[in-house]
Amino acid sequence: MAIIDTDIATAVDLLGQSQLVAIPTETVYGLAGNAMNAAAVSEIFRVKERPSFDPLIVHTHSIDRISEFTNGMPLAALELAQALWPGPLTLILPRKDNIPYLTTSGLETVGVRIPDHSLTLELLSELEFPLAAPSANPFGYISPTQPEHVNEQLGQKIPYILDGGVCRVGIESTIVGFENDIPVIYRMGGIEVEKIIEIVGEVNVEKTSSSNPKSPGMLKSHYAPLKKVIIGSIERMIHDYKTEEISIIAFSEEVEQVPSSQQFVLSRSGDLSEAAQNLFKALRTLDKNNTSVILAELVPDKGLGRAINDRLIRASTTH
Ligand code: TXA
Ligand code: MG
Repeated sequence: MAIIDTDIATAVDLLGQSQLVAIPTETVYGLAGNAMNAAAVSEIFRVKERPSFDPLIVHTHSIDRISEFTNGMPLAALELAQALWPGPLTLILPRKDNIPYLTTSGLETVGVRIPDHSLTLELLSELEFPLAAPSANPFGYISPTQPEHVNEQLGQKIPYILDGGVCRVGIESTIVGFENDIPVIYRMGGIEVEKIIEIVGEVNVEKTSSSNPKSPGMLKSHYAPLKKVIIGSIERMIHDYKTEEISIIAFSEEVEQVPSSQQFVLSRSGDLSEAAQNLFKALRTLDKNNTSVILAELVPDKGLGRAINDRLIRASTTH
């Protein structure tokens, strides 16, 4: 298994040798390697079993460094960057040649993000290169929000997990691209759509396209447990199953008919941030018990609730 520890010098050393390190961010753990080194990047794709058409996000620690590997920023991008970084926002910007096509899956753009986690910001400031880091899970599975999640699935394949505790936000960054300089949301995430509109005015929200995804986080089936996930009214759905067959993800209240050990309540106080933080842990935990199906209800469709519902719906789509 990988070593789980907080030593930045070890991470710097390994990354400098083109090896991979799992890093904490405020959203989810990332599987990081030197974004400018094709060998390190191809190792990321191999370890994650990720298809080569799915580009990686490049992480750095300061807005000043971004011009080293991107070619200009639309005004709206600069406004978003200044208002929301470090934070759960990824901007799609024109790439410079020093970012290998392997990192961008052949695209002329690159996804860039300054994550809001003190350990990782310190790590990035000690490196001479930015870090490419997809979520540290096998492709298509649930993203990890604590070091143990990474270790369970990728521990045999990587040497080191930088331990930054439980991720504060718990769902991935919001991805914003620019088409004719107009912001387009490719993936809903840790920054609410409402917040983005507040900063730059109207935005477009890209509809899911699974045949030719601009952002494979948009693939219909993604973030999916191995078990079947069914979405709807829990009270109604439970009658179709034997009690021992079902696990439940509820927003704020347990149901009486099913043992508590088979249920995960996302937030007893009905708080969407807390629900987001718990979502992936809930899916992982219930995926491991002896039941055969997970019944889940959607949360209120506003703010972070939109990103939560997006993940639940994708988790429920069969492969
Ligand atoms: O919160 C996050 O964004 C986490 C942490 C580790 O930073 N990372 C993450 O990475 O979620 P990943 O690889 O699981 O999802 C990145 C998404 C992919 O769906 C990818 O297609 C999209 O970002 N993406 C990356 N570069 C892109 C580009 N140039 N154009 C469009 N989409 C891009
Ligand atoms: Mg991912």
